Amino acid sequence: MASSPSIDGETQLAAVIGSPVRHSRSPAIMNAAFQAAGMNWVFTAFEVSEADAPDSVAAMRALGIRGFSVTMPLKAAVMPALDSLSGDAEALGAVNCIARQGDALVGHNTDGAGLVRSLQLDHGIDLADKRCVVLGAGGAARSVVLALSKSGVRNVVVINRSPERAEIAASLAGPLGSTATLEAVQDADVVINATSVGMGKDAALGDSPVPVELLNSSQVIVDLVYKPLRTALLAQAQEVGATAVDGLGMLVHQAALAFEHWSSLTPDLEVMRRAAI
Ligand SMILES: NC(=O)c1ccc[n+]([C@@H]2O[C@H](COP(=O)([O-])OP(=O)(O)OC[C@H]3O[C@@H](n4cnc5c(N)ncnc54)[C@H](OP(=O)(O)O)[C@@H]3O)[C@@H](O)[C@H]2O)c1
Repeated sequence: MASSPSIDGETQLAAVIGSPVRHSRSPAIMNAAFQAAGMNWVFTAFEVSEADAPDSVAAMRALGIRGFSVTMPLKAAVMPALDSLSGDAEALGAVNCIARQGDALVGHNTDGAGLVRSLQLDHGIDLADKRCVVLGAGGAARSVVLALSKSGVRNVVVINRSPERAEIAASLAGPLGSTATLEAVQDADVVINATSVGMGKDAALGDSPVPVELLNSSQVIVDLVYKPLRTALLAQAQEVGATAVDGLGMLVHQAALAFEHWSSLTPDLEVMRRAAI
């Protein structure tokens, strides 16, 4: 690993903005990546309320901050202050990364593409013609539905506690999208938990969003929850002999895509992965 450059007048700044943000893994992940690339950049965190979102973008512009990662509750609130949006950010109505393009500040959304890259690159999963089920219809689910719909899958079925939100999420996949009830899980090749069920609870005690009877050994079962990494759903996946994929890969790849937007360089994924744990 390259040694850390000392902070000086040339040091470039990037940061995560949101609230609460002090628990974020982004500073550890990004500083490790900058250091490994020998870049004179530092990454910090700014606690920003929703009301202050436009001012924080104005500050980025005025201070020459190179990049922002954007987390809850600012993903929509920053949008009016930006100069333009990527197609994904516009479709999702949510920005998780702000990059400079010349003098312009551009909003991107790297979450869904991060998951697809992780499945393909880390796990060697070919998504072509796969029947996919996404559990949940919140911000993470919507980004995953959109990214899957552009990855050659056969269809994307959205299952959510609140059916009206499921319809909105499924519409992001256009003609490939539909909604269903939980039984549809048994017909899927790829099952992705994008609900917060299982968050903060270890596998032995935690809840799963799916009864184990609906899972089988030929499936790829993905949990976006990454705290803890081993969830009750992934324990079920192992029990039935399915391929189990945790949320770390998405976390790392969405950060890597942000790094690429800011610097036009490719980060060391292994360094980022180690820093994320
Ligand atoms: N690995 C990564 O990089 C990554 C990135 C982003 C998010 N995540 C994880 O993904 C999860 C969702 O995040 P988000 O930002 O999309 O959250 P969100 O916008 O708040 O959406 C939460 C979703 O979970 C559903 N839900 C919550 N409690 C439920 C319950 N008890 N039973 C059934 N459904 C329930 C909600 O259903 P309703 O619509 O009915 O309320 C909604 O669909 C979180 O665990 C987050 O940590 C991981």
